[in-house]
Amino acid sequence: MADTKTHGFVLSGKKRAGADDFDGDDYFVAKKSLLPPLAPSWEDPAAALANARHEFGEHGGVNMSIEASATFTVMEPETMRRMFSGELGPDRDFFIYSRHFNPTVLNLGRQMAALEGTEAAYCTSSGMSAISSVLLQLCSSGGHVVASQKLYGGTHALLTHFLRRACNITTSFVDITDHAAVKNAMVEGKTNVLYFEAISNPTLTVADIPALSRMAHDKGVNVVVDNTFAPMVLSPARLGADVVVHSISKFISGGADIIAGAVCGPASLVNSMMDLHQGTLMLLGPTMNAKVAFELSERIPHLGLRMKEHCRRALEYATRMKKLGLKVIYPGLEDHPQHELVKSMANKDYGFGGILSVDLGTEEKANRLMNHLQNSTQFGFMAVSLGYYETLMSCSGSSTSSELSAEEQELAGISPGLVRMSVGYIGTLEQRWSQFEKALSRMQDSSLFK
Ligand SMILES: Cc1ncc(COP(=O)(O)O)c(C=O)c1O
Repeated sequence: MADTKTHGFVLSGKKRAGADDFDGDDYFVAKKSLLPPLAPSWEDPAAALANARHEFGEHGGVNMSIEASATFTVMEPETMRRMFSGELGPDRDFFIYSRHFNPTVLNLGRQMAALEGTEAAYCTSSGMSAISSVLLQLCSSGGHVVASQKLYGGTHALLTHFLRRACNITTSFVDITDHAAVKNAMVEGKTNVLYFEAISNPTLTVADIPALSRMAHDKGVNVVVDNTFAPMVLSPARLGADVVVHSISKFISGGADIIAGAVCGPASLVNSMMDLHQGTLMLLGPTMNAKVAFELSERIPHLGLRMKEHCRRALEYATRMKKLGLKVIYPGLEDHPQHELVKSMANKDYGFGGILSVDLGTEEKANRLMNHLQNSTQFGFMAVSLGYYETLMSCSGSSTSSELSAEEQELAGISPGLVRMSVGYIGTLEQRWSQFEKALSRMQDSSLFK
């Protein structure tokens, strides 16, 4: 056997043996089953991550070794044929080439699968590549997607323009909170995917994942959920979704230094995406580098702690901003339209997400406030993206949602003065709040307050 189990952990043993070593191996999986499903046990993301297989380093290091090889040797020529036929795969430590499976990337995939409670996961070079690869795997030319009208600008553009032009895949956009509209838009036998964000970018609308999943499944439609805004907080697959996609570039990375993504879902889906003839990950090649996968694997163990602090501060700032009379949107506030819903779906003790949005009314006011916040009081940085330890803020209409037309922005509820804030956790909460208040007072604009 390739692995030696010790104290409940797995020491990744060394082997490059021939096929004969595996006679009678109880790990044997049927031909073409590259990744076996993970055990279904799952309580919450922290427990699942702690239960995930811990990979030790080659010399007994507490951290795994990085498998930096692009290609892998075999001891016998026959093994190569068996690997290419799908008979021998990564589940038994047989690797072909790192655009296919790589052990270090696979380890990060195991962590992502544990985090989201799915059978399998595999990591990609960006969030967009994860999203586009899943959609292309689940939809053929002429396919149909029903999608929320409140989506990250890049995903909206992918669905509106790119997939229609390049693949004749069309999308009907709907208000995801209008369940009758969602139901009507899905056509049994035609619609392949229902796509939405668990908490939408940047308007923070929360999707009713159980109800939407039930509706989609009744019509034979796959549910794909982007959980970039709420790792640890929400677990869409446990609530009924089929596939969860992530931009790992955000909270999961936490360092604003890496672009990465993941597809978490059934082992059969991940395996199909790796198929040598039909797999989007294999054939379009949005591969994650093993060194990047190692970096990210080291950050996932403290994702839960980071999320709790992002969420704690976001709730505190949102509450205080509301008290001041600012127009603030945050799912943790009782006046948020889906506050009760998010409470019913959220994992215990993580809060309601690390992002809040403030509507300043006009782009001019939004820009003036951000300018004070960054350049006068050092509250945060004007930058897109999210999940960093510093607070990041951007005016969505003119930045990350600028792919949407004015009409689409209006439909999505994005006001021209909407500032999205990804709340950081460095410095003390009071120190940062006083920086916010100082910037606000420099605005000298009473019209900001209700
Ligand atoms: C919700 C959401 N999904 C997907 C993406 C795309 O991810 P990436 O930039 O890693 O490609 C982003 C942002 O960039 C996002 O905010």
